[in-house]
Amino acid sequence: MEITLQRFLILIAFSLCLHLNVGSVRSLCLEDQQLSLLKFKQTLIFDPASSFKLVSWNSSTDCCSWSGVKCSNSGHVIDVDLGLESISGRIDNSSSLLNLHHLQGLNLAKNFFRGEFPAKVFQLPTLQNLDISYNAFLQGSLPEFPENGSLQTLLLRETNFSGMMPDSIRNLRMLSTMDLSRCHFRGSIPNSTGSLANLVVLDLSQNQFSGSIPSFGMLKNLNDLDLSHNDLSGQISSTNWENLSNLANLRLQNNSLEGIIPLSLFSLPSLQTIDLSNNWFSGQIGDFAVLYCSQLVLLNLRGNRLEGSIPISFFKLQGLVEVDLSSNNFNGTLELSIIQKLENISTLDLSFNHLSVDDASFGNINFTSFPQLLELRLASCKLRKFPSFLKNQSNMLVLDLSSNQIQGEIPNWIFKLPLRWLNLSNNSLTKVDGSFCNFSSLTILDLHSNQLQGDISNVLSLALYMDYSENRFSSVLPADIGHFLFNTYFFSISGNYFRGVIPNSICNGEQLNVLDLSQNSLSGTVPRCLIAMSHSKGLGVLNLRRNNLTGTIPDVFSVNCGLQTLYLNENYLQGKIPKSLANCKVLEVLDVGNNGINDSFPCWLSTISSLRVLVLRSNKFYGSIECPTSNDTWPLLQIVDLSSNKFSGKLPTKFFETWTTMMVNKDKIQLAFDYLRFDISLYSLYYQDMVIVTNKGSEIELVKILTIFTSIDFSCNKFEGKIPEVMGEFRALIVLNLSHNSLMGPIPPSLGNLQHLESLDLSANSLRGNIPQQLGGLNFLEVLNLSHNQLEGRIPKGNQLQTFSEDSFKDNKGLCGTPLRDCGANMQPPSTAPTSKGNNLDNGTKIDWNLISAEVGFIFGLAIVILPLMLRKRWRIWYYKHVDSILFKIFPQLDQRSRNHERRTLRTRQRRN
Ligand SMILES: *[C@@H]1O[C@H](CO)[C@@H](O)[C@H](O)[C@H]1NC(C)=O
Ligand SMILES: *[C@@H]1O[C@H](CO)[C@@H](O)[C@H](O)[C@H]1NC(C)=O
Ligand SMILES: *[C@@H]1O[C@H](CO)[C@@H](O)[C@H](O)[C@H]1NC(C)=O
Ligand SMILES: *[C@@H]1O[C@H](CO)[C@@H](O)[C@H](O)[C@H]1NC(C)=O
Ligand SMILES: *[C@@H]1O[C@H](CO)[C@@H](O)[C@H](O)[C@H]1NC(C)=O
Ligand SMILES: *[C@@H]1O[C@H](CO)[C@@H](O)[C@H](O)[C@H]1NC(C)=O
Ligand SMILES: *[C@@H]1O[C@H](CO)[C@@H](O)[C@H](O)[C@H]1NC(C)=O
Repeated sequence: MEITLQRFLILIAFSLCLHLNVGSVRSLCLEDQQLSLLKFKQTLIFDPASSFKLVSWNSSTDCCSWSGVKCSNSGHVIDVDLGLESISGRIDNSSSLLNLHHLQGLNLAKNFFRGEFPAKVFQLPTLQNLDISYNAFLQGSLPEFPENGSLQTLLLRETNFSGMMPDSIRNLRMLSTMDLSRCHFRGSIPNSTGSLANLVVLDLSQNQFSGSIPSFGMLKNLNDLDLSHNDLSGQISSTNWENLSNLANLRLQNNSLEGIIPLSLFSLPSLQTIDLSNNWFSGQIGDFAVLYCSQLVLLNLRGNRLEGSIPISFFKLQGLVEVDLSSNNFNGTLELSIIQKLENISTLDLSFNHLSVDDASFGNINFTSFPQLLELRLASCKLRKFPSFLKNQSNMLVLDLSSNQIQGEIPNWIFKLPLRWLNLSNNSLTKVDGSFCNFSSLTILDLHSNQLQGDISNVLSLALYMDYSENRFSSVLPADIGHFLFNTYFFSISGNYFRGVIPNSICNGEQLNVLDLSQNSLSGTVPRCLIAMSHSKGLGVLNLRRNNLTGTIPDVFSVNCGLQTLYLNENYLQGKIPKSLANCKVLEVLDVGNNGINDSFPCWLSTISSLRVLVLRSNKFYGSIECPTSNDTWPLLQIVDLSSNKFSGKLPTKFFETWTTMMVNKDKIQLAFDYLRFDISLYSLYYQDMVIVTNKGSEIELVKILTIFTSIDFSCNKFEGKIPEVMGEFRALIVLNLSHNSLMGPIPPSLGNLQHLESLDLSANSLRGNIPQQLGGLNFLEVLNLSHNQLEGRIPKGNQLQTFSEDSFKDNKGLCGTPLRDCGANMQPPSTAPTSKGNNLDNGTKIDWNLISAEVGFIFGLAIVILPLMLRKRWRIWYYKHVDSILFKIFPQLDQRSRNHERRTLRTRQRRN
């Protein structure tokens, strides 16, 4: 090796500068290695201000001294570490990186590389550690690995890698850590993975791997196994789990695994975490008495089909800190006192089983020696009273006793617990001993569906989420109610007997995002300030449905209105729809049905392209619904109910052409409408819409129907002219009601395209001509009414139409054929008996779809994520973890979205770093 004097001096200088230990000799960089690195640097896009390592890569210095570069004694580059350097750009097949033939370690993690990652890098002959994780836009796939691969660490987490895992993974005999999580891999996990005897960490979570889990019985060094959030199926009992003596963490949650959970799993000597939640595991969990082990700290079996009783021996797993057995079929009786045996328990969830949790044997228990829990969830456990050991708890943050049979009063010792989350909903509680108003720690208070009565004052708290709906409160609303609402995002008193006016102070709730005062007897006018709260950081949902409100709707919708949902149905409101409502550009649901509104069709609302539900039913609307100039109308519209008004004029073809959601095939209607969601800085709330279909006064609530429910109801107006052909394009339509108008002309054959139609009512018009043959192909049709028209000719034969009763066709000019009289023999009386299929419209026992209407109510999803700023960081992390998991239980669909969100957040975080 040739060492020039100059280089020698530089080396000395560096050694002094960096105070290198005398002992460590730095070799000199080989020229080709230096050139390769510099070439590589040239292909990268980086910001010198944040890419500290790259900045030091400078031709005037020795490459072995560059930051992030390590050389061997012979001057070959053996390690390149450019993690977290804010680098973007591509690495292609010709990258000079591939010239570093002695490379052992390459770290490009946490950057913004994009494009296809060259497979050749995996095949560098000496590469041991490869970390390219957290490059969300970096694509690639795993190559075939040659024999005797040297890779020990392979980290691809959260990249855009896809494809299958090659069977040749078997050649990576040295592999000890493999993390392919949060990518887009699919296909089965090769059986040969089970032969990688040096594996310590295997994380394949959050991909689309399918098929069964290979036997990992040979992986004696395995410490962490995470296969969660894939599509894996089959049983896990074939693996010789007992060989995995080093396994500490096992995560198989969110797959489709089935069969029994082998007891040998629980006896692994090092196992600390088992998460098997959200699979199809069944059978009993066996007797833990045989287990000597138990380092077990976390056990999550939530959301399976496990059954039988929870064995007493289970409570011998004394190391347990977190236990979730919820949402299974466990049965039998469980004495609460047995929890005492789990000395370290801090989180326990037994909700939603068939358990009877019993509090009887507490007489001789010393509560002071009871473990102090942070979280206890006993929803749907047949509890008849508050568990008495709670009195002596002092750390409890989350208490969920919902859906039990607890009667009587809410005891006052509950106010001594430092609770953040209290859910006592769905019980039979009647009153409170004490007052919630000093219960300042509460973030979420859910008391809905009890029998709480009288005055609401001492139940009001300062929580961010307060749900008092479906109780028996009967007071007037306290004039100072706003005092409690300063920090509140969600407030519902729906379904009580509240009287009197809505106090203006309610508008002090400046954070209010959902305000639900529906189904009470509130009277007086809608406060102006309430409507003015519709600004972009204010109300998203305002529900005043079914009260006794009078007066007009104040014309003060905020200029930057953020309202998504407005329900005013069933009040005594008069006047016009306020013009300022057009400010609400994100409005999705407008329901002013069953009032006394006297206005023309609100064409000016056509600027709100987000509208999905428009209900004007049973008011005094008049005039044409043809809008003169509007370019944009309602591409997302799904439910439009204009019935029982005085609308007149023709049905406007052009207008209908813009209702494109009605035109897509039903299956394609976005799930998005399922959960209208809004983010307000630190807070996201999900709530679920619900359609109520009325039937002569009694109501049928069709929860979650909106995703598939599309309906047009123009009945009981004075519409005239023809039924537009374009209505045949509304392929997603389920209900079409044009009855009781003055429509003329033929029934357009295009209506035969409405393949999802379940109810078609064209009765009481002046329709002429034959019934088109095409109507016979409407296979889902349950209700048909063509009566009281001028139709004639033969009812199309040999199809669905014959299954309806004659009432569906009666009072026409000259219809004949089944089920009416025979066409050939005119004199024959109509004798064919109605078939069972016919939903006879005059048959009072069946749903009268003739009166169908879509009023829109709403129920909150009671799922909420709040960032409680006032809380300590540790709590916050814990809180997030738990709130999310609850959220996902209620709305599994959110999981995927949240994962995407997590990805995005991480990306943002990376960018910031
Ligand atoms: C290389 O580094 C030296 C000293 O750190 C600096 O003076 C010189 O400008 C750098 N050269 C390049 C090409 O950046
Ligand atoms: C890189 O080379 C592989 C074959 O070695 C080829 O399949 C791939 O398309 C090349 N990628 C690019 C970006 O040229
Ligand atoms: C993997 O092993 C299982 C069980 O031993 C076997 O049924 C399956 O066919 C194997 N898969 C492959 C791809 O060899
Ligand atoms: C509990 O479930 C098991 C298995 O499903 C059943 O055999 C047993 O009868 C049930 N016990 C009770 C009390 O319901
Ligand atoms: C309950 O246990 C605590 C501590 O374990 C002890 O100090 C106390 O005396 C016990 N009380 C009774 C009534 O046994
Ligand atoms: C609300 O209106 C209904 C129907 O008009 C009436 O029966 C009821 O008494 C009213 N309630 C109040 C509190 O005014
Ligand atoms: C409608 O579109 C036309 C051209 O496409 C445009 O000139 C006109 O301003 C638009 N009208 C409205 C109300 O947006």
